Amino acid sequence: MKPYKWHMLICTGSRCTEDGEAETLFKSLGEKLKARGLADGAQRVKRTRCRCFAICTEGPIVTIHPDGTWYNRVTPEVLDEILDQHLKGGEVLKAHVYHQAERLD
Ligand code: FES
Repeated sequence: MKPYKWHMLICTGSRCTEDGEAETLFKSLGEKLKARGLADGAQRVKRTRCRCFAICTEGPIVTIHPDGTWYNRVTPEVLDEILDQHLKGGEVLKAHVYHQAERLD
């Protein structure tokens, strides 16, 4: 596996979004990452679909690791903000945080 800086997980389970919005969001991610220089190199983001995070509310749910940030109600516009503000800018999008894990380091 190629090295990566962040791992982005998107729940595409049917209880999060009944109309497939999360799957559409996941499929859009490849181009969005490429456009921002986040698809390769030192800033690479690995992306993975998940079937359920066991919270099943207010999807689509997107998590960013190792930051431990869980975002909910992620629209295409919010996803753009996550990529630009959180991953490129280093600043968590507080208005859309569902849960923030504590860092242990
Ligand atoms: S279906 Fe998405 S968290 Fe359960």
